[in-house]
Amino acid sequence: MLVSAKDMLQKAKAGKYAVGQFNINNLEWTKAALLTAQECNSPIILGVSEGAGKYMTGYKTVAAMVKAMIEELGITVPVALHLDHGSYEGCYKCIEAGFSSIMFDGSHYPIAENVEKTKELVEVCAQKGLSLEAEVGSIGGEEDGVIGRGECADPQECKQIADLGVTMLAAGIGNIHGKYPENWEGLSFETLDAIQKLTGDMPLVLHGGTGIPEDMIKKAISLGVAKINVNTECQLSFAAATRKYVEAGKDLSGKGFDPRKLLAPGFEAIKATIKEKMELFGSVGKA
Ligand code: 13P
Repeated sequence: MLVSAKDMLQKAKAGKYAVGQFNINNLEWTKAALLTAQECNSPIILGVSEGAGKYMTGYKTVAAMVKAMIEELGITVPVALHLDHGSYEGCYKCIEAGFSSIMFDGSHYPIAENVEKTKELVEVCAQKGLSLEAEVGSIGGEEDGVIGRGECADPQECKQIADLGVTMLAAGIGNIHGKYPENWEGLSFETLDAIQKLTGDMPLVLHGGTGIPEDMIKKAISLGVAKINVNTECQLSFAAATRKYVEAGKDLSGKGFDPRKLLAPGFEAIKATIKEKMELFGSVGKA
């Protein structure tokens, strides 16, 4: 069932668990994510970065694939199809293509411009029944060319954006995309606590879910995080399983070169990673 992310995130915030956003790259990723959500009876958010959207030939292809797969696989759990770190133009393209949720990442604009553009998109999304994620304070690391500095957001600016009526808010709390460096200082729970005190019921979003220790994930959820984004970890587990298959020479024996066989271990590895995250985030059985 393709839905906006609003209900699933409000329930998660109230129930003190988080819904995972798993980024998709192709058919295998999408199928793995949908089947795992169904098996775990968990709501799920499929994230699509602008780079991944382009790779899959465009947002219309992505929306058509996801909608058809939900039907063909008989997926009954709530699924949101969400643009990840969208530009202003990208948001409008995804709204037109039939996404059920979008993120406008205005964190690189001066706050007044972020407010102005987010406000406009709040109205457009409300009219169309879509959920909208906004961002304050950029996320560190690099994802599809989007580079952030890992700063901590200003809680007052978070309140200003939350008050515009967005569905969920991503706020930098020292998190970064990709693998965390050895000398990473960890999440700033003081910042998160200050943001949650000022934004009340607003579901907060934790980007850069790959490699955050379990105790920090649990503490973040207890302080109002209701959506956690995971991308790199599925890529790493897919790559490791594929490497193992090829290094064992399995592609060279029998029909092991058949793409459906070659990609199967990676597919199963993505499923296992997603299941593990859903269990950690507490969304299993919450559909
Ligand atoms: P990771 O790649 O670090 O898991 O981050 C994902 C993310 O935040 C997508 O927006």
